Amino acid sequence: VLFLLSIISLNTFADDGYRLWLKYDRIQNEALRKTYAQKLATVSINFSDETSKVTLSELEKASLGLLGVKTKLVGSNASLVLKKEILTDKNSEAFEIKSTKNQIVISGNTSKGVLYGVFELIRRIQTSESLENLKIASSPKIQLRMLNHWDNNNGTIERGYAGMSMWKWYELPERIDTRYIDYARANASIGINGTVLNNVNASARFITAEYLGKVKALADVFRPYGIKVFLSVNFASPKILGGLKTADPLDPEVKQWWKNKADEVYKLIPDFGGFVVKANSEGEPGPMDFGRTHKDGANMLAEAMAPHNGLIIWRAFVYNFDPKGDRFAAAYNEFKKFDGEFLPNIIIQVKNGPIDFQVREPISPLFGAMEKTPVSMEFQLTQEYLGWATHWVYEGPMFEEVLKTDTFAKGAGSTVAKVIDGQLFKYPLTSMIGVANTGSDRNWTGHPMAQANWYTLGRMAWNPEITSEKIADEWVKMTFQSDKKSTETIKKIMMESREIYTNYTNPLGVHHVMGESHHFGPEPWVEKAPRPDWTALYYHRADTVGIGFDRTEKGSNSLAQYHLGLRSKYSDINTIQPEFLLWFHHAPWRHKLQNGRTVWDEMVTRYYEGVKSVENMQRQWASIKGKIDSETFENVEARLKTQHKEALWWRDASVVYFQKYSKMPVPSPYQKPART
Ligand code: GCU
Repeated sequence: VLFLLSIISLNTFADDGYRLWLKYDRIQNEALRKTYAQKLATVSINFSDETSKVTLSELEKASLGLLGVKTKLVGSNASLVLKKEILTDKNSEAFEIKSTKNQIVISGNTSKGVLYGVFELIRRIQTSESLENLKIASSPKIQLRMLNHWDNNNGTIERGYAGMSMWKWYELPERIDTRYIDYARANASIGINGTVLNNVNASARFITAEYLGKVKALADVFRPYGIKVFLSVNFASPKILGGLKTADPLDPEVKQWWKNKADEVYKLIPDFGGFVVKANSEGEPGPMDFGRTHKDGANMLAEAMAPHNGLIIWRAFVYNFDPKGDRFAAAYNEFKKFDGEFLPNIIIQVKNGPIDFQVREPISPLFGAMEKTPVSMEFQLTQEYLGWATHWVYEGPMFEEVLKTDTFAKGAGSTVAKVIDGQLFKYPLTSMIGVANTGSDRNWTGHPMAQANWYTLGRMAWNPEITSEKIADEWVKMTFQSDKKSTETIKKIMMESREIYTNYTNPLGVHHVMGESHHFGPEPWVEKAPRPDWTALYYHRADTVGIGFDRTEKGSNSLAQYHLGLRSKYSDINTIQPEFLLWFHHAPWRHKLQNGRTVWDEMVTRYYEGVKSVENMQRQWASIKGKIDSETFENVEARLKTQHKEALWWRDASVVYFQKYSKMPVPSPYQKPART
């Protein structure tokens, strides 16, 4: 008996994180479980297609796991009715859930809508919500909700910290790894409906006939889950693959080459999403190599894709070599002038900030600047600058901060959320993507808590006005199925984690001071790199007077790219929110902040308090021992130890380095000699 019991408990608690937030362990509260079980006893469905199959199979998994019952498929009078019907909301992905005493009805304009409705129902069960008197009507505010994998065909992932690529190119198209199906389930559960399979630094090989066959196999797996496949393309492909002398976008042969390529792709994959292009950025080829512009390049590709309703997602991540210039201003300078001149099947994809996914960035000035060209949001889930897979950083609050920022493009209330969901400028195309943090690790994301960032991308893309706290609440409940106290503790750590990381790495808006090239750990002293705008000194500009990049009128004046309302929040050194201070001002070390501390004292305080907060994270985590599965507990406990060690490293390296300029003492509460 003991042996059996131990097997049962092992089954209940052994966990390697593979099941993500779709964990479906048995609900412990018996009364609740019985109520749900009644509601899911029988199911009927009025349509039959590939999506209906996966919908029913998910329902079965969830009800067996969570409730211990096998939902029975019946013709009529079911307790759960799934149906396709025309809804008031005509959005093709919309769903409604209505419940009366004896019946729940989930309806959608399409089978995809019904699938999303079923996932919503499951989420409500996982989070112990009542299913009585439901009157839910939901539809995504953003059309394209995507992951962008930076995966290479040799199996490596650029900036990936969770193992190798999940795509086993050498096995495809013949063998379909079951992980592809679980990947699709996870994405569909949070409304993600697109995936860019390969790195933006794209190998041309992905659009060869050989690879397109493999891509088709993946597209076939993802289709029932409502997920379309996209590819990043290399702009020089006509030369590399086609043997042409040029890739000039205005050359007739080049145009024809891309048209033929588009035809080839769509013949194989009729619902292919489109091409993502990183052009003339960080050494990638592009139209400027031939004296043309981003507009010429994007429009040429868009023409090739238009007959198939294919999209061109053209990235605005561009910057030049000018050591005297301000990289902050580059994307706006390059793209604003073409507003309104891009073809209708083009989206300009913009990173949340003007530099590069730094720990905290003000918004890219392009949000709010492009009135006639759809711009979309690119967030980074993989923690390139956020401590890779050893630091626990819940990115929800960061995304929320960005989305809530007011661009003032059409007066107060013109938030980034309203720009990218199309409300503000009536964009016909809308999109939000996250650079994926997934890999071949059993738990998908390396750090188990990083799964939350993937989850968040989907939920925020569905509704960019949802709060990060609500998302954290859902995710923790679904992932851990633990008691209230533990759930609250985990949520609290999550909500504080990003600010803590910011404090011990990049306080007061100092930025781009991480290790050169690999981007890990502190290296504010980097003076030489392959490019001047990759050195830390270029950004922090510390000297004996002060620290920070002056972007006001006295400096680079990049602030002028914002509308007045936003600009005035940042332009005055005395009123700017301290978190953004060094983004916009070269602040004297002795300048007094509103709390009465000098810039130096405040910086050092934050470095030290940041480290202390990690100790607090460790204590809080220790308090939930035994309340969640031991594998995840120990995994996170160990990672927190590393995080603490590395927080000390960041603090000491930074304080000692900057002290060389400030020549001021460490404030008294922290005056133990720093390690050198
Ligand atoms: C960053 C990152 C690169 C990536 C680039 C991009 O610079 O370090 O690895 O290719 O962003 O977004 O294109």
